[in-house]
Amino acid sequence: MKKLSEVRVENGIGTLYVDGKPFIGLGGELHNSSASSTEYMREKIWPALRPLHVNSIVATVSWEQIEPEEGVFDFQIVDDLIADATKEGIKLTIIWFALWKNGISSYVPEWVKLDRKTYWPCVSLNATKVSTRFGDNAHRTISPLCKAAVEADARAFRALMKHIDEVDTEGTVIMMQIENEIGLIGSPRDYSDFANARFAEPVPDAVAKEYGVSGNWREAFGTDAEEYFMAWYYSTAVETIASAGQAEHNIPMYANAWLQQYPDRPGAYPSGGPIMKMRRMWRLGAPTLCMLAPDIYVPYFEKVIAEYSSDGNPLFIPETQTNVRSAATVFLAVCEYNTMGFNPFGIESVFGVKREMDSGFLMSLNINMSAFSNEGSEVYLPKSYELLHSMMDLIIPARGTGKLRGFFNGDTDTGKLIPFSKYDVHVTYGGQMQGKPPAGGAILEVSEDEFYVFGTNFRAEFVPKNNEMLTVEPIRIEEGKFVDGKWVRGRILNGDERRVSIPFMPSIIRIKLQSYETC
Ligand code: DGJ
Repeated sequence: MKKLSEVRVENGIGTLYVDGKPFIGLGGELHNSSASSTEYMREKIWPALRPLHVNSIVATVSWEQIEPEEGVFDFQIVDDLIADATKEGIKLTIIWFALWKNGISSYVPEWVKLDRKTYWPCVSLNATKVSTRFGDNAHRTISPLCKAAVEADARAFRALMKHIDEVDTEGTVIMMQIENEIGLIGSPRDYSDFANARFAEPVPDAVAKEYGVSGNWREAFGTDAEEYFMAWYYSTAVETIASAGQAEHNIPMYANAWLQQYPDRPGAYPSGGPIMKMRRMWRLGAPTLCMLAPDIYVPYFEKVIAEYSSDGNPLFIPETQTNVRSAATVFLAVCEYNTMGFNPFGIESVFGVKREMDSGFLMSLNINMSAFSNEGSEVYLPKSYELLHSMMDLIIPARGTGKLRGFFNGDTDTGKLIPFSKYDVHVTYGGQMQGKPPAGGAILEVSEDEFYVFGTNFRAEFVPKNNEMLTVEPIRIEEGKFVDGKWVRGRILNGDERRVSIPFMPSIIRIKLQSYETC
């Protein structure tokens, strides 16, 4: 049995340890239905993943599939998934699709779906309905206040984790995502009689203590009361589920968030979900989770990862765009914000598996169709992954030292000035072109006069620090690559080519410099 994976937060940086060693997952999340069929996985998905240079993927296991009858479990699909991933040398983060998926309860087994008395849904009020493109989903969402439902989910999850503990002898499963994009859509809270009664009661002691508040939910949290109320009940439900599973197989578990975004009202984005604004409530309610993870489809990628890597929250990106921007954002996420994993959504579609998501459906999820344009991603994303993998032995120890700095041209910036020990570096972003990555990359200082510069679509110029009257001069510039952790040089760039210019195709340059006084 391999060592179980774990997340450690060291100097504010989260690191995922797999078999005792730091691991950065460069992968992707599969489409929702792919992993429900072993045959489909074998015929379409595993072959499509091979050219991508992924070392891990985010795949799904659903409650409806493993517990078709109450108390009767069938783990064949889990066994096949783990065995095939192990054979492919790909680690798995498994999403537990159970009580909630994008707010609604579509993945519960039939025997739960058909018993709406025992497993009762949320209720919305006409007066409080939040207009969303997703519709009013309260009646499709089993209430997190429904104890019978939460306990049934926890029993199934415990059985799943016990089974994984028995069969996963190679440590292929490295993390578990509990549910998916939790929160109530269409209504700020559950207005069932049961929930109304809880809302009118004093807040639980733990909440009163954490926030220094008293009285009922409205008195304690004012106009934000609905969201805090739902966050408490969702997070404590998740705690019941996650802790039941972790007792059987102790690997890291997290919850992912549909971001707080336009239109910015709880219920228009899932109310009570694990967004950073609710982190104190989620940490209090669900201490078993090691982090809250963002699903990023908004254009302001850097702002989101800055937020989700702050306040001791380890960064892990379970979903992001699959378009060509990801070939650039990955450098920022890994080298500047220390992500433990990076996963464009529907990764199998980069190499030809058809996407079955139309623009109307994506609008209901508040996602722009362009997030999933494949144009260029099949060329550039695997190259970015290959390059980053080849440098992992250098990247991992440099995280958080200030000697590794990443960047990305999120919008219309022209560049960035980055300070290193002896020099500053002017990074000038290349232009934006259809089907090509925007600028994104990183610089690694290996000694004060020697650097690796890598990424896509930018130029770098080494300059003296502001107040120094020095000339900074390249001594040697080389193209090349890392093979088995060793630098193997290509051309020596001199004469007409004497500069650090990284093309669209992800690549790396090594530069050695000197500086001297000229007057
Ligand atoms: C976000 C969800 O978390 C995923 O399961 C999937 O539905 C994508 N959106 C689709 O774009």
